[in-house]
Amino acid sequence: MNQKSDEKRYIPALSFRWLTPLYDPLLKWIMREETFKRKLVQQANIQPNMKVLDLGCGTGTLTLMLKRAQPETEVTGLDGDPQVLDIAREKSIGTNIQWDEGLASSLPYPDSVFDRVVTSLVIHHLVTDDKRRAFKEIFRVLKPHGELHVLDFGAPHSSLTRFMTSYMRRLEETADNFNGLIPRFVTEAGFGEVKEAQHFVTLFGPLSLWRAVKGV
Ligand SMILES: C[S@@+](CC[C@H](N)C(=O)[O-])C[C@H]1O[C@@H](n2cnc3c(N)ncnc32)[C@H](O)[C@@H]1O
Repeated sequence: MNQKSDEKRYIPALSFRWLTPLYDPLLKWIMREETFKRKLVQQANIQPNMKVLDLGCGTGTLTLMLKRAQPETEVTGLDGDPQVLDIAREKSIGTNIQWDEGLASSLPYPDSVFDRVVTSLVIHHLVTDDKRRAFKEIFRVLKPHGELHVLDFGAPHSSLTRFMTSYMRRLEETADNFNGLIPRFVTEAGFGEVKEAQHFVTLFGPLSLWRAVKGV
């Protein structure tokens, strides 16, 4: 399958399928994913009986953290890549998380069904048009007053991080992030104010954590 065809357009977790088995160790030991994923879970403030979507869930680490934080929540992990979903299913045996295959730019859900949509390290995998479509889709599937929490590469806050991003800034998918365009795309999709609640520096570049609410 050509992963860049119009039908199935996603970039695997580490860009190449053969690297996918290394994703979890890399994130754990080199990127210290626990630190920022824990912040994301806290910020999402999930309450019992909410419906939560982890968009681009990958191997399911964040999805599992969400479920463990609030076991009474109905949690769904969605990803375009069946290979990562197999890993996620294996890691989550014994929990009742729903794993769905689908694309961010056309979510396989009805309107207004989720209380929270969280997405971590996914938006920088999408070309500009798909980023815009994905935020519109997230807006559509959120309930009124529902919240979006996005963790992804963001605009540098120092000359060191500006230097770190100089190569990735040339790629269409990551340039939007480092050029600070994510809040604009979120607002254009219909959300009110977008807040950058926190930012982190990692070996791969600066990460931002944003929060936006679907107004009525
Ligand atoms: C870097 S991984 C992040 C995985 C996980 N969210 C995390 O934080 O560890 C990016 C994930 O986004 C998925 N992805 C990329 N483009 C996508 C799209 N258009 N629709 C759905 N998933 C997509 C990839 O398959 C991959 O699993």
